[in-house]
Amino acid sequence: MISIAKPYIGQDEQAAVAEVLASGMLADGPRVREFEAAFAAYCHSPGAAACSSGTAGLCIAVSSLGLPSGSKILTTSFSFIATANCIQYANCRPVFADVDPDTFVLTAATVKRALEQDPEIRAVLPVHLYGQACEIHEIVEIAKSRGVYVIEDCAQAHGATEQGVPVGAIGDLGVFSFYPTKNMMTGEGGMITGRNEALLERCRLFLNHGAPARYQHTELGFNYRMTSIAAAIGMCQLARLPGWNTRRRANAHALSAALADLPWLAVPKERAGCEHVFHQYVITVQDRERLQAHLQAAGVGTAVHYPCTIADQPYYQSLGFSSDDLPVSQQLAGTVLSLPVHPALTDADIQTIIAAVRSFVPAASESAVTVG
Ligand SMILES: Cc1ncc(COP(=O)(O)O)c(C=O)c1O
Repeated sequence: MISIAKPYIGQDEQAAVAEVLASGMLADGPRVREFEAAFAAYCHSPGAAACSSGTAGLCIAVSSLGLPSGSKILTTSFSFIATANCIQYANCRPVFADVDPDTFVLTAATVKRALEQDPEIRAVLPVHLYGQACEIHEIVEIAKSRGVYVIEDCAQAHGATEQGVPVGAIGDLGVFSFYPTKNMMTGEGGMITGRNEALLERCRLFLNHGAPARYQHTELGFNYRMTSIAAAIGMCQLARLPGWNTRRRANAHALSAALADLPWLAVPKERAGCEHVFHQYVITVQDRERLQAHLQAAGVGTAVHYPCTIADQPYYQSLGFSSDDLPVSQQLAGTVLSLPVHPALTDADIQTIIAAVRSFVPAASESAVTVG
């Protein structure tokens, strides 16, 4: 079976973890500082704060803004649930805008319109979905002109760029995830980056019990620290990330070149001037369930990211949200399908995936999905 994701655990990772275990210093420590510095340099960020997961990082990032309870934060409903939950944790309220039908992310025009219509929005939380940067430079300019914060959800976009600049330090803060399926991983883990050094400093405080010094607590903080074990794995993975991203891009381009002519599916579109790092390779197709079963039978694993908009999740429905005014997000939830694109795929695997997709016989009435 060709799996949808395959975390890499090499001898380097095993040796690095063994070294940490032998040192006896398992929790926070110099290995974590070393990883923070290396990751900050990779993202062109003035600093970085390592944490226990992407969700923890987003929670801290939103908390660090110090917004009054009930403040509105603009985001997307077409993402993983953590994107919106972090707003709820901070007693703020998500405002969902619809995504672009070509790139599946918030556009600058959408953000501008939303901020003009609702001056109560205090922050924007766009997602670089599937490894593709959104129009983050323009979004930051629009937000800045209105005194609105920007937190980039970079959980799926390690190394993605817009205008040659890596995501993560274009907005006030950026948050990455190192969950095992991500472009690089630490088991569980996350990293907060950003150009706003004052907020980064507050994040450091919040993730360590609000303690500027031992047993002195100036804020209501959390224990969201990264372990030295995770940091040791992260250092090994970061060294390989550029090569892995190159491989992901090559795999994606091979898939698109071989599938683009099929009239019943749409291959992913890359924004010009951006380096998409293909955390996921996502096609849209009407008859998703039948294609998924066909691929499964042919030994090709797939996944759906995501089958339901956040606004349509039972918890958010219970709060009164709905996706009635988010038609693109709603339609995408019914048509997206992720194919394997990870760097462990061999050329033979890519050919197997292509042959399996091409051998699918769509219903006679089926045509390409036009979203929007
Ligand atoms: C877009 C997005 N945001 C946030 C997260 C949360 O990251 P973590 O799983 O490390 O908590 C994820 C993880 O899948 C994600 O995909």
